[in-house]
Amino acid sequence: MIENKIDSLLSIMTLKEKIGQLVLYSGSWDVTGPPSDIGNKEKYEKLKNGEVGAMLNVTTVAGTKELQETVIENSRLKIPLLFGYDVIHGFKTIFPIPLGESASWDLEAIKKSSSIAAKEATASGINWAYGPMVDISRDARWGRIMEGAGEDPFLASEIAVARVQGFQGDDLSKKTTLAACAKHFAAYGFAEGGRDYNTVSIGEYELHNTVLPPFKAAAKAGVATMMNAFNEIDGIPATGHKELQRDILKESWDWDGFMVSDFASISEMIPHGYAVDKVHAAERAILAGCDMDMEGRAYEVGLEQLVKEGKVDEKLIDDAARRILRIKYRLGLFDDPYKYCDEAREKNDIYTKENIEASRDVAKKSIVLLKNDDTILPLKKDTRSIAVIGALANDKDSPIGSWRAMATANSAVSLLEGIKAAVDKTVKVSYAKGVAVGVGERNFVRELKINQEDVTGISEAVHIAKEAEVVVLAVGEEAFQSGEGRSQVSIDLTMPQQKLFEAIWAVNKNVVVVLMNGRPLVITDIAKKAPAILETWHLGSESGNAIADVLFGDYNPSGKLPVSFPRSVGQVPLYYNIKNTGRPTNVDSMVFWSHYTDEKNTALFPFGYGLSYTSFEYKNIEVSTPSFSAGGAITVSITVTNTGKRKGKEVVQLYIRDLVASITRPIKELKGFELIELEAGKSRTISFTINEEIIRFYTANKKWEAEPGEFKVFVGGSSKASLEASFFFKK
Ligand code: GLC
Repeated sequence: MIENKIDSLLSIMTLKEKIGQLVLYSGSWDVTGPPSDIGNKEKYEKLKNGEVGAMLNVTTVAGTKELQETVIENSRLKIPLLFGYDVIHGFKTIFPIPLGESASWDLEAIKKSSSIAAKEATASGINWAYGPMVDISRDARWGRIMEGAGEDPFLASEIAVARVQGFQGDDLSKKTTLAACAKHFAAYGFAEGGRDYNTVSIGEYELHNTVLPPFKAAAKAGVATMMNAFNEIDGIPATGHKELQRDILKESWDWDGFMVSDFASISEMIPHGYAVDKVHAAERAILAGCDMDMEGRAYEVGLEQLVKEGKVDEKLIDDAARRILRIKYRLGLFDDPYKYCDEAREKNDIYTKENIEASRDVAKKSIVLLKNDDTILPLKKDTRSIAVIGALANDKDSPIGSWRAMATANSAVSLLEGIKAAVDKTVKVSYAKGVAVGVGERNFVRELKINQEDVTGISEAVHIAKEAEVVVLAVGEEAFQSGEGRSQVSIDLTMPQQKLFEAIWAVNKNVVVVLMNGRPLVITDIAKKAPAILETWHLGSESGNAIADVLFGDYNPSGKLPVSFPRSVGQVPLYYNIKNTGRPTNVDSMVFWSHYTDEKNTALFPFGYGLSYTSFEYKNIEVSTPSFSAGGAITVSITVTNTGKRKGKEVVQLYIRDLVASITRPIKELKGFELIELEAGKSRTISFTINEEIIRFYTANKKWEAEPGEFKVFVGGSSKASLEASFFFKK
């Protein structure tokens, strides 16, 4: 019994050894935050003395084995190390960025992608992934919107569970599974102005009803660890937030994993103005329930003194150490500290043909067809001539995206390569860069220079566009325009790319625009003109092949947007599940209603939206009974018909609206979805069950409960679902 083993171990550990378990160092082999002031030599000494519980950014069997041996062969109690790494969308075989993968709404595909990432990472000595990132975000200016599952708590919760299950499998002690880490607890995606690390000022109801559900879902799914956040929430840094980490997560949710700080976030409570020094920061953090110190170097300098001074009860150190030891036991590390140090697996399980094929499969399912006028798509494989234009079309690196783990630079299949591989050999495929997007070296920690004025390559692009039957134009963002530390005030295409589109459009109307981006972009002008637009995100290792699969119809696109696309950055934060306000509509053409005088309120492309090469019709929405009461349920059913000429997938979405409640409720809330596939001409009736769990929310009673009253229910293929019915819930 693991708890008994932990009791025995804790009973013989010194205070210094217990504190050692709460210390996480970054190997200087990789840098994902401001490097600490500690060198490798000092870290080795602490490893030998059993004063380190985990390392991050150390990879390969050789690298992890060396450090594990340092601990096992030198320390008194031989407590194995955890090895953590940012496995966000793949390890070496790279999958679509999480926001893109979320557009698949395919929970099985998402789970598989995480399980492959876990298999590859564990083959390289890693036993702890710093994923899934489950931060809700409604602000495309925020660079890390690429890393989560978008704007909706229900979809993000479902995807969080799929990713946790993929990483952890059904048995954490297996060699191919690892501890997951739901992050960043909490509300990191609500940074004011979309500026990374910035202040968060949201209320209690928004926190509970919008931000916390994906974390709660991950906790219920058994996520082994969580990571807190850099930001403060209404004056209290998340790292020092007791209500969040102890009262809600560990008490109310009864979660038994451990909470790790974000990179140096404990010590960052000093610049936050919430701690005087590292000792005070250590006190704030341990009292608030932060169990492990990632490179903050606060626990190692402060905790022993705080316990001796009676400011911190040693029981809190015991609880933190217990939680960390619990995960190490569940991983099986005490039985075999070297179980992840398997050279044969490192040679055979990473970047395999099978994994790469799986990446292509998830990638094609992540593509969203935003527009397809006159069914210009799919293209014919014997099209006489295709002009492929845009720097991103010939870019083998940007599709790998930000947070790229151990991916090899320039290892993705480019769009140009994917098109050439897909078409008949008789087809003339020409290429022109047009304009650059990023300029100079790409670097994870350094600012990327973006081309804002050089348009010299447009004439060459126009020349090949004139000659071609169809143009495939790739525009969007470089890999490192999104990700950590990459917030932007503009989410427009760069001016050179806009000029490129206009010049191409002027000479050839058959333009298929392929967006490659880490965040929603403003493409309002392109959306008016281009007959076809594919949203392809940063799709990972198999990007070009997956896009070609859709371009030429080998795969009928099925993606749906997990985020709203704005018409202007001025609309941001933009999301579908808005509150109605007291002045939702235009009265007598006066100005006194909630709107902009210079732009529509609505999204250019809304949450849940995505087209297909076929079409679907929804009809016959029915509610089984007009009302239900506590313990009961109703069924909402809908008939969906494939009214087109080819088989296709559709994400059938169920939304509700709680018309009147103890706090205001959104005009729509996603509460169910089903990914179906229908042959042309076929129909199917889909049913959703609505019970108390579905309509519960955090009420004015500060409890998660259902309230009586009338509800509307909507079913359709996007958040614009208009087929509606009503029901009552009666206490
Ligand atoms: C970074 C990120 C976090 C990541 C950690 C370790 O700053 O905020 O998501 O897991 O540090 O790299």
